[in-house]
Amino acid sequence: MKIISSPAEMQQTALELKRSGKTIGLVPTMGFLHNGHLSLMKLARPECDVLVVSIFVNPAQFGPNEDLDAYPRDFERDESLCKGEGVDIVFYPEPGNMYFSDASVWIDEEALSPGLCGGSRPGHFRGVCTVVAKLFNLVLPDLAVFGEKDAQQLRVLERMVRDLNFPVRMVRGPIVREADGLAMSSRNKYLNAEQRQQALCLKQALALAESLVRGGEKSVANIRQQMVVLIGTVPGAEIDYIELVDDETLARVENVESETLVALAVKIGPTRLIDNAVLHP
Ligand code: PAF
Repeated sequence: MKIISSPAEMQQTALELKRSGKTIGLVPTMGFLHNGHLSLMKLARPECDVLVVSIFVNPAQFGPNEDLDAYPRDFERDESLCKGEGVDIVFYPEPGNMYFSDASVWIDEEALSPGLCGGSRPGHFRGVCTVVAKLFNLVLPDLAVFGEKDAQQLRVLERMVRDLNFPVRMVRGPIVREADGLAMSSRNKYLNAEQRQQALCLKQALALAESLVRGGEKSVANIRQQMVVLIGTVPGAEIDYIELVDDETLARVENVESETLVALAVKIGPTRLIDNAVLHP
């Protein structure tokens, strides 16, 4: 397994691989890898000749009061996990090498980004789109795998690929959960034992929405209200948003009549966690 930290060397290597007819798969990550990331690598591995994992805590997608500096990092552990998954190249750039200090071109997706996480994290998806476009230009992947836990990110990036004609096949990786249902996230590391228990309310609220819809409930107001009540019973849990939106357009819906994405962000103490499910009426 090769580790490349220079963007120019990454692009040169990718160009040579393409010239020799190899297909490239990319799993973009911010490191501190867990089983969710490994599941994305497992999906990509049989689909490409050369598997690249990028590890880059992208400053452009963090707001001024967010956890950029505190974001957990452990490159040695990440490296050995990548080896275990048969990764060929780890692209591990320095922030100073990824962005010019006077960078002035950014990618704004305008339809799907403003609500949900985009509402509470202004500029977040601009940072995500820009870094992923840069990674696509440096790694030249034929396919890229993104996790469904970041449901909005996935849809925003799929739209970017469509609208800007990136020749990249986008693959969705299902959410991977701990045995008790908590969606895997690098940010789970911030939770103490008590908060770890409290964090289960995200999955419980989603399960409640699913069971209400299975029982015939259609009203978004009713479903949302019951989710709010459930989370309200958990001390230390503060709702950032709970939204039920059209699965494709991410527009709010009043009734669950077609595939509906139920997505929520909840602060458990200082840690903001997200989770989601697709409701099938
Ligand atoms: O999902 C993530 O870890 C990041 O948003 C991504 C896609 C690697 C871009 O920095």
